[in-house]
Amino acid sequence: MRAPCVYIETFGCQMNEYDTELVRSILKNRGYGFTDTADAADVVLLNTCAIRENAHNKVYGHLGALKHLKEDKGVVIGVLGCMAQNLKTDLMGKDSLIDVLAGPDSYRALPDLLEQAAAGKKALAVDLSEYETYVDIAPDRVAGVAAWVAVMRGCDNFCTFCVVPYTRGRERSRTLPDVVREIEAAAESGCKQVTLLGQNVNSYHDGTSDFADLLCAAASVSGIERVRFTSPHPKDFPEKLLDAVAEHPKICKHIHLPAQAGNDRILAMMNRTYTCTEYRKLVEQILTRCPQIVLTTDIIAGFCSEADDEYKETYRLLEDIRFASAYVFKYSERKHTIAARKFADDVSEQVKSERVTQLIELQRGISLAYNLGMIGEVMEILVEGEGKRADQWMGRTDGNIVTVFPKTHGTLKPGSLISVRIVDATVTTLYGESALS
Ligand code: 5AD
Ligand code: SF4
Repeated sequence: MRAPCVYIETFGCQMNEYDTELVRSILKNRGYGFTDTADAADVVLLNTCAIRENAHNKVYGHLGALKHLKEDKGVVIGVLGCMAQNLKTDLMGKDSLIDVLAGPDSYRALPDLLEQAAAGKKALAVDLSEYETYVDIAPDRVAGVAAWVAVMRGCDNFCTFCVVPYTRGRERSRTLPDVVREIEAAAESGCKQVTLLGQNVNSYHDGTSDFADLLCAAASVSGIERVRFTSPHPKDFPEKLLDAVAEHPKICKHIHLPAQAGNDRILAMMNRTYTCTEYRKLVEQILTRCPQIVLTTDIIAGFCSEADDEYKETYRLLEDIRFASAYVFKYSERKHTIAARKFADDVSEQVKSERVTQLIELQRGISLAYNLGMIGEVMEILVEGEGKRADQWMGRTDGNIVTVFPKTHGTLKPGSLISVRIVDATVTTLYGESALS
C-alpha cells in the first residue's frame, strides 16, 4: 500500500516552525510521506498559533478552503499547536471538518491519532506535560544556512495578556549536552547559524548549566559561525549573560528585548515584573557593556484601560531608546488569560488602531535613520541565498539586519561570510556594494 502523503502548513512563531520539523520526523519514522500541496495530500495538518485574534482568523480561513478536499477526497484534517491546545473541543464540534487535534506536547501520539481518524473516528490529544522536550527526536530539517533549535519549552511568567502558558504549559529545559549534539548535527550538514529558541529562552536552566553556559557551548561548536536567541525576558539578564554576548565573537550582537509598554501601571497590570525605569536601566547596562548591540523590541498598544497619557509613555520609550526595529501589536484578548478573566478589554478598536499606527510610523522613521546611519560602514554578512533579483545576494548583518548586494563575486554561496560596504538603506533593508574580499 502507498504511504499516506502529508501536507503541513505552519503558522506563528519559530517554535512552531521547529515543532513542524519534529512532527515531520515523528511521521516519517512511521512511514508517512510528504507533499508540498494540499491537493496532493491524504492528510492535511495545520500547525497553528493562538497568540492574537488575526492568527486565529487565518487558520479558520484556511480550514474553510480545505472543505472541498474533505468532501471530494476525504482527506484527513488535523489541527496541531497552540490553537488546538487552547480551543480543544470547541474545534471538534459535530459539524467540524477537523478529524484530529494535537497540542504541542502530544506530537508523539500523532501517528496513532491519524490512524484512528483514517478509520473514521475523530481523535484528540491535548494533555500538557511537565517533562516533554522531545529529547530523542531529531528534527527533520531541510539542510540550509540557518537552523532553529528549541532549548526550552513552555513559560512560567504568566504575563496577563499571554496565552502561551496555557497552550504550551510549564517551563522545562533540555540538557546542554543534548542541545549541543543537535547543533553539532546541524553543523555537520552545513548549517552556519543556529537560533536558540524558547518562549522564555533566557530562563533556560538544566539543573547544571544556565543560559549563558548554553550560549557559549553553542557558539563553540565547530562550523557554527553565528548564534542567536529568541525570545528573552528582561527579568533574566544577569551580568554573566551580558558578558557572554559581549565577549564571544560568535554570539550575535543583537538582543530582542520585549518592552511591551512604557507605563508602570500598565506594566504592572501586564505582570511584566519590571518598571519602565528598570527596563531603561537594563538597556543602558547592555549598551555600556556592548555599545554595538542592536536592540529590537515588541510593543502592545491598547492594553486594558490604557489611558492616552500612559500610551504616550510607550511612545516616548521608543523615541528615547531608538530601537533598530520594533514589532507593534494591537492588544487582542485571548481566551483563558488572566487579562481576559480580570480586566475589561475597554480600549476601543479605533483608539487601538490609532496608537498602533502612530507607533509604527514613529518606529519606521527611527529604523530608517538607524539604517541610513550605517552607510559607509563595512559589515560582515552571512549570505542566506539569492535576493529578490537573481543578480543579488541576500544575507544579514551580525545585528540581524537584512542586507542585499550585487553578485559580483563568483565564489560566494549561501553560508559564506563576506565583508560588504553599505551604500544605501531603507526602513527594513541595507544595500551593499560588491563584496570586498
Ligand atoms: N495581544 C497582542 N499582542 C500580544 N503578544 C502576546 N500576546 C498578545 C496579545 N494578547 C505579543 C507580545 C509578545 C509577542 C510575541 O506577541 O508583544 O512579545
Ligand atoms: Fe503562537 Fe505563541 Fe504558540 Fe508560538 S508559542 S505558535 S507565538 S501562541
